[in-house]
Amino acid sequence: MNSATAPSPAAAPAIRVEGVEKSYGKLHVLTGVDFDVARGSIFALLGSNGAGKTTLVKILSTLLKADAGTATVDGFDVASRPGDVREAISLTGQFAAVDEVLTGRENLVLVARLRHRKDPGAIADDLLERFSLTEAGGRKVATYSGGMRRRLDIAMSLIGNPPVIFLDEPTTGLDPQARMEVWQTIRRLADGGTTVLLTTQYLDEAEQLADRIAILHQGTIIQNGTLAELQRLLPPAKVEYVEKQPTLEEVFLALVGEEPAGKDQS
Ligand SMILES: Nc1ncnc2c1ncn2[C@@H]1O[C@H](COP(=O)(O)OP(=O)(O)OP(=O)(O)O)[C@@H](O)[C@H]1O
Ligand SMILES: [Mg+2]
Repeated sequence: MNSATAPSPAAAPAIRVEGVEKSYGKLHVLTGVDFDVARGSIFALLGSNGAGKTTLVKILSTLLKADAGTATVDGFDVASRPGDVREAISLTGQFAAVDEVLTGRENLVLVARLRHRKDPGAIADDLLERFSLTEAGGRKVATYSGGMRRRLDIAMSLIGNPPVIFLDEPTTGLDPQARMEVWQTIRRLADGGTTVLLTTQYLDEAEQLADRIAILHQGTIIQNGTLAELQRLLPPAKVEYVEKQPTLEEVFLALVGEEPAGKDQS
């Protein structure tokens, strides 16, 4: 890497969260959240139902105001520069935001128009191709499977090439194959330099994807580290000699004829 040729506001982390607090009435959901996300990395925010993951994503994407603390995204303060933050991000919410009565291609063209992009048709075709939806592109979204909807939803959020994307539970409700397709999509984004913050309740999703994992619990980040760092928090497993049984996921994927997702495919 040649840092001399890359002058950007980029020395700062893509996302910086400091002391963020949020309550709904008497319910203190976030009581002081701090973390940084490095540019081009995948950061997984893990937490149980109701931990406050969506609340935090909403604050970072300017949909909700924090009660206290500060957060910057792509160097812009979410409270004082919300317009700049919105320019720099995309948000794929917990529930797919695609329009059922339109075709996949029409959904993409619509968003490209709304974002004032030149040549919305070409943008749509390119994204359909990248997300393996070219054949389905002319069909109404109402006929898509859950995995296809998710892929379309993520494709829509990439129009305009935002440097930072938020994915709130990107694979909830998907079958193992569709989850792997979404995982591959997310890896490709990060490989291309996009910063990804995703929330998940699936531990394996964080293991598979994330450069760093933060655990949100009772309003605050109780651990933040790489998978290896988190694993070192527990004593190493005793060595036991047991026959290794295939996991149900391995059996399922063998039967339906898919390769299990490796960590280091490209
Ligand atoms: N607008 C609101 N008004 C009142 N309470 C809210 C509001 N939004 C969220 N909450 C509450 O705040 C807590 C955190 O909700 P949030 O949606 O951020 O959790 P989450 O970690 O995303 O959960 P899940 O895994 O179920 O998506 C929950 O107890 C929820 O009921
Ligand atoms: Mg949520």
